Amino acid sequence: MPGAFKKHAEAIYNFKVRPDDIWVITFPRSGTTWTQELVWLLENDLDFKTAKEKPLYERFPMLEITSMVPDIAFSLIKANFMNLGNFQGLDHAVRYPSWKSIDEAPSPRFIKTHLPLSLLPPKLLSTAKVIYVARDPRDVAVSYYYLFKMVGKSLTRTTFDHFWEAFRKDLLPWTPIVAHTNEAWMQRHRSNLHFVFYEELLKDLPSEIRKICKFLHRDYSDEKLSQLADHLSFDSLRKNKTVNNNTNEKDEVQFIRKGEAGGWKSHFDSSMELQAEEFLSSRLRGLDLTYPSFSLDETEFSHL
Ligand code: A3P
Repeated sequence: MPGAFKKHAEAIYNFKVRPDDIWVITFPRSGTTWTQELVWLLENDLDFKTAKEKPLYERFPMLEITSMVPDIAFSLIKANFMNLGNFQGLDHAVRYPSWKSIDEAPSPRFIKTHLPLSLLPPKLLSTAKVIYVARDPRDVAVSYYYLFKMVGKSLTRTTFDHFWEAFRKDLLPWTPIVAHTNEAWMQRHRSNLHFVFYEELLKDLPSEIRKICKFLHRDYSDEKLSQLADHLSFDSLRKNKTVNNNTNEKDEVQFIRKGEAGGWKSHFDSSMELQAEEFLSSRLRGLDLTYPSFSLDETEFSHL
């Protein structure tokens, strides 16, 4: 994590959770935004009107966003060298800690975080409802790379193979990804935790929406749910200005980018593919966590 996290880590760990909070926890680029919009609408009687008017980052703020701004970046941000416009809401988070604003917000609160459970309040799962979304780390790596490019613009000159090197060595914010997911996976039977894979949302959104409804004790007609699924479709969310974190539609790299599973294949050459297999098999060894798109058979190559 950036050094600034140290200043906020304790306050975040001791953050006061409320029973009517709803949290969405993910490793970045795992379908957070998609799930936030889904959860917010289910909890707000499918109020599409407000959802279209009020940015998602206000309706569903991010707990640790302030800690992601390294001190050294403040002057750069002020000088506007960074494309801050791509991160609506970040300028506010610089002025007032995000966790403090959330602490002072009225109930019911909707809270997004990329922090793993071990850095969050220990009573979280015995107090509030939590939805954890996981995704194949290879697709996450590609998507994360484009996010860096989108935010950094001309400051980010790195190529994907360099980025992948940093990703697999756990040098990027919120890594290591498998341990992050495993912490939630181990708690998946808790009644306050709903665990879902991005790939499952992609495969059958209506059925996953129904499961989340059940988890949240919300009941909607089939007609309403199909309206919600339409609203949440990739094409619809990409055009949605309150959800897609882009300010400029003409930008080549968009926050809501491709929306597919397995797209990593076109970014990994054969040696990176091998590294990815080794990365996953070694990180998953001894765990009962498996990704829907990664069977351990894939890892049976001769030198193991
Ligand atoms: P890609 O970059 O692979 O396209 P997060 O919100 O956690 O940052 O996740 C962003 C990823 O979720 C992006 O992945 C984005 O395109 C994808 N995503 C967002 N909305 C989606 C939708 N409605 N359907 C499919 N994927 C979606």
